[in-house]
Amino acid sequence: MLTTVIKQLFSGRRGASIDALLEEARAAFAAKDLVRTEKSAKDALAICPHHVEASYYYGIVALQRGNHTEALSALHDAEADGILGAEHACQMAFCHFALQNHAIAERYCEIALQHDSNYINAHALLVAIQMPGSDYTAVISAIHRSLRPATYLEIGVAQGKSIALANAETSSIGVDPEPDIQLPLSSKTRVFTKTSDTFFSEHDVRAEFGGRPIELAFIDGMHHFDFALRDFVHIERHCTQKSIILIHDCYPLNRATATRDRATTCWSGDVWRLILALKKHRPDLEIFTIAARPTGLALIRNLDPQSRVLSDNMDKIVAEFMATDYAVLDHNKREMLNWFPNDWTKIEGLLKPVVSDAHV
Ligand SMILES: C[S@@+](CC[C@H](N)C(=O)[O-])C[C@H]1O[C@@H](n2cnc3c(N)ncnc32)[C@H](O)[C@@H]1O
Repeated sequence: MLTTVIKQLFSGRRGASIDALLEEARAAFAAKDLVRTEKSAKDALAICPHHVEASYYYGIVALQRGNHTEALSALHDAEADGILGAEHACQMAFCHFALQNHAIAERYCEIALQHDSNYINAHALLVAIQMPGSDYTAVISAIHRSLRPATYLEIGVAQGKSIALANAETSSIGVDPEPDIQLPLSSKTRVFTKTSDTFFSEHDVRAEFGGRPIELAFIDGMHHFDFALRDFVHIERHCTQKSIILIHDCYPLNRATATRDRATTCWSGDVWRLILALKKHRPDLEIFTIAARPTGLALIRNLDPQSRVLSDNMDKIVAEFMATDYAVLDHNKREMLNWFPNDWTKIEGLLKPVVSDAHV
């Protein structure tokens, strides 16, 4: 390849000079001195045009300055002898993203993840591409404000970020074996320190809510399909047809973040299987997986508290979907998971049929 030939030609004659300039570019970049990085890279490129590493440094300075077209051209030169690593691939992805080439940006993110399956910047960029807009807490907060439910049940409260979004007048119950509440909760909120299975076996949920049904629920506990399915079954029993169940982590970024055993920082477990299972075995449910970052938020309505389809066939359904490989999502993730845009005017439209007279 011409680039390599030129590089070898010049590095033979002026190797020391190139080496010194590259050394300076590396040191300047490490010291966050963009001016010096750019100058060293530019001088190196004057000696050896298209030099891989010099092009790389020139490209990342251009990227940091927001010159995406120039950055892309330099990073592309640096790519000529092969991508330098996850960071390089991610920088290419970022340039394409900034230039609105989202499909190409996704491909470069995948290359970055081939180098490092836990490369957080690549995951963050994939989230920005696949789930633009507000995050799941903003959507949940808006749902609380719009629905003003009398009762709210949340499975998996952690620091309290989501249960703290409930309105002051809502009777709220949180369930978590290891809650670590860091935010102020309303006086009408109670947190039970136990697993959801134990909670449902030991408590009559309707009695806990003073004889009222659950109007809004959020499932965000153990990120395993079978746990989330049991949570859904237990919750639906205490709902009305008009209640809403939200389920977190239903729109995985990719295979690596969608496994049962956690291997990545960004992780949604195999909760996605629940959407497939509900679609198949409960076609009466209305399922919308809102593309809310970072891992999607499903909204389920038209509930049937009398239905026993799931509980009567629990073992069979769990076995069936545990055997379902992520490959089923490879080509048509959006349709398979009932993707719904993260657009509040459209989301609010989903709430209308469940708003009771008292709330209109
Ligand atoms: C992702 S965090 C919840 C985050 C919280 N909903 C939020 O939005 O900030 C998951 C929580 O589920 C809890 N958890 C794990 N297994 C559970 C189970 N079997 N039942 C209920 N909660 C569980 C964990 O202790 C953890 O605090």
